[in-house]
This record gives sequence, structure tokens and C-alpha cells, in this order.
Amino acid sequence: FPDTAEIQDGRLRTLGGIAVEELAERFGTPLWLVDRATLEGRMRAYREAFAAQEAVLGATTTVVYAAKALCVRGVLELADDCGLWVDCASGGELATARAAGIDPRRIVLHGNNKSVAELRDAVDAGVGRIVIDSLSELARLEGIAEAAGRVVPCHLRVTPGVDAHTHEFVATGHDDTKFGLTLSLGLAHEGAARLVASRWLDLVGVHCHVGSDILRLDPYHAAADVMVRFLAEVRATHGAEVGELNLGGGLGISAVPGDVPPELPTYAADLTAAVAEAADAHGLTARPHLFVEPGRSIAGPAGVTLYRVGTIKELPGLSTYVAVDGGMSDNPRYPLYQAPHTFAPAGAVARDGTPRPVTVVGKHCETGDVLGEGVSLPSDLAEGDLLAVAATGAYNHAMASNYNRLPRPAMVLVGEGWAVELVRRETVEDLLAREPSLRDARPPVP
Ligand code: LLP
Repeated sequence: FPDTAEIQDGRLRTLGGIAVEELAERFGTPLWLVDRATLEGRMRAYREAFAAQEAVLGATTTVVYAAKALCVRGVLELADDCGLWVDCASGGELATARAAGIDPRRIVLHGNNKSVAELRDAVDAGVGRIVIDSLSELARLEGIAEAAGRVVPCHLRVTPGVDAHTHEFVATGHDDTKFGLTLSLGLAHEGAARLVASRWLDLVGVHCHVGSDILRLDPYHAAADVMVRFLAEVRATHGAEVGELNLGGGLGISAVPGDVPPELPTYAADLTAAVAEAADAHGLTARPHLFVEPGRSIAGPAGVTLYRVGTIKELPGLSTYVAVDGGMSDNPRYPLYQAPHTFAPAGAVARDGTPRPVTVVGKHCETGDVLGEGVSLPSDLAEGDLLAVAATGAYNHAMASNYNRLPRPAMVLVGEGWAVELVRRETVEDLLAREPSLRDARPPVP
């Protein structure tokens, strides 16, 4: 749970100095809560951890917040205030970043299949770096840049052939993936050659992202080595000094007590040391300017989801099901990745029954609508109680759906006794507003 969470006897009592009952009362449930101190603290800690390594690295560093983790206008404004750039993975994220007032030169645009319209908008806006994901995109972007008469600063996304030791759905560094230009197949070299020759695309850096939810440092060492060697090869082959190295995001979080990610200063020191070491080993004359793109490790720990417990169903000899008023529509991560979560009863009412394992389920018409299995909760947990789930700031709101027509929850930023909506609760009327009635239309002509 976030830094400001007050936990008493295993119960979440307050967040950001406000009683959880009051938050549930004021904003309803399910509710996504974001602890401002933790969110800002993580943003600033990232900036400071990398700034502290610049002398050792012998180059500057840039921390880019990966908006995909939690792409909400207010959150991007905070990232900007904390000195971070913003990584966008679609036109929608780009538009959100622009609405948040982010200087386009501090935006990085990603995507394995950016549309022509997305590329054109990014070029017109003067986005700081466009990350080229394929040879076909390279050609497309070159045409767009030429038509606009603008030289576009690019990073080349390299698929480095690195195993990230994470869930297969979020591993991206191995050769056989939809992302990037596979190094072992010569595609990255081909891309670099074309970029060096291009009048309209400026190869300012190379990029890789080996995967997400990574708790170890060795995949980063491997990636740093491969990428620095690639920079040295580009210099030797094409005479091009490519000055920027983006090692992506991916640092995991402590979603459950057993998961222990490296501390940010350790991660920053380790990453920069690996880059410096590789630069020396591969004879790179100038140290590259280092970019990182964290998402989960910034937004994840700041988030708490608050649910109201509904039906509790006991099946003697089988399972106990505790159903909450949301589910896979606000957090699809257990069905998708079997992601473990930390649960706690919330509120002032003491629940001191012997803990017992239960299955926490949502309210969706689907057996797989599970938030956790073998979750230890007090046996006197009652219908109507509040239940909190920790570390849900990343990839929950971002991946939410309206399955079974559940309006998406509100998101509230809390800190020092105040609470402010980051996202207002969706209503069924919001959903219906986009659906014209066929009864108002003429019948289609056969
Ligand atoms: N940079 C690139 C190019 C990425 O593809 C990603 C994540 C990041 C940065 C940020 O990674 P992070 O620091 O958040 O791990 N929906 C999945 C996670 C998908 C991550 C996709 N790319 C989940 O809920 O676990």
C-alpha cells in the first residue's frame, strides 16, 4: 500500500489522510485511488536517481513516463511538473499529453503500427522523438516528413534478442516479436543504413524495451551490452555518431510481499554502470545520453482500488467466494497474466476473525472474472464491508472495459487530507450517448 496508507491490524483505515469510508461515501465504489505523495515521490525519485548517475555515466539522462501505464491528463501534468518527458503509444495518448500541456519536444511516440494520421499529427506537432518500429514504417514516415518539409528526430527500435524472464505476454526483447527491428536478422542494421542515408529522418538514437514487470537487473545488463555494441557498429559501418540510447521501461513493483524489485537508486546506478562498461568494452568514444521509460514502477505503487463486498458464498468443502462490485472490467490483470495482488479489508470496523483463504471475484458474467485466489481474509468479513487492493495504479484504469455494461469507476487523487477527481465516474448515459437508436433511422435499403 502507498506511503500515506494507514494500516491497522491489517485493515486499510485511511489514504492520504482521509478515512476510506469517507472516500467511498463521497465518490462511490469501485473507486481507483491514487496517492499523490507516492506518485510524485516516484516521479521525483526516478529523476533524482538518474541525475545522480550523470557524472559517473559521463552523459545526461532523461526519464520518460510511459503514459500507457496510467494515461490521465492530471497524471501527465504531474509527470511534467516533476521534470519527466512523456512516452505515448498512440494518437489518443499523444492527444492526452498535448491536452496536459506537455511540450511536444518532450514527447516520445511509440507503436508497432502507427497510422499515417498518427505519424502526420506527431510530425506536425513537432514530437521530440518518433521511435521507428519497422522498415515499412520508416518509409512511410520519410514520405510524411518530406511532404511536411520537416526533418524528424528518430529513435530506431531494435529487438535485441534478450530474455526478460517475465510473463510471455509482456516480454518484448526476444527475436520473434511484433515489436522493433530484429537485430539477429539484420533488420536493425538495414534500418540504420536507411536512416543515415535519409534527408528527412534524423537518427538521433536507438531504443529497446525488453519487457515489463521485471524484478531482475540482468536483462538490462544484457540489453545495455547489445545496444551499445550496436551503436559502435553503426559508427564503424556508417560513420554515424548516434548519441542517444533508450533502454525502455519495465522495472517491476512489489505487488505482493515476495516480489522485491531493486530500489530506484540501485537500478539507476546499475543501468548507467552497465552502459558505461559496455561503452568502454566496445570502444564507443562518447558515452550515450541515456533514456529510460518507466510506467508501472511510477504509477503502480500509487494506486489502490476500493471495492464494496457484496455476496459472500460459502461452498463447504470447496471454496468461499467473496464478490466485489467491480472485477475484470476495472482490473483484468489476474485473468490475463495471473497477476498476484495484495488485498486488505478496509475501514474502521474491526474484522478479527481467523484469516481463511477465499477467492475474490467480480460481478461479471464470466467464471474467469477473478481478482485473486487463495486470498487470506478474516472469516468475519461481511457483506457491505470495504475491500482494498494495493498497487493497482498501473494497467488497471488503462486497460479497463465496459464489459457487462459496467460504467468505469472514478479515479481520485488523495493527499494531505484532500481528494480531487482525476477521472469522473462514467455513467450508463455516457455509454448510451454514443449509440444512436435504429428506431430513429430509416430502415436500410436492401
Ligand atoms: N516503453 C515501451 C516501449 C513499452 O512497450 C512499455 C510497456 C514501457 C516503456 C513501460 O513499461 P513498464 O515500465 O510499465 O513496465 N499491460 C501489461 C503491461 C504491458 C506493458 C507494455 N509496454 C500489464 O498489465 O502487465
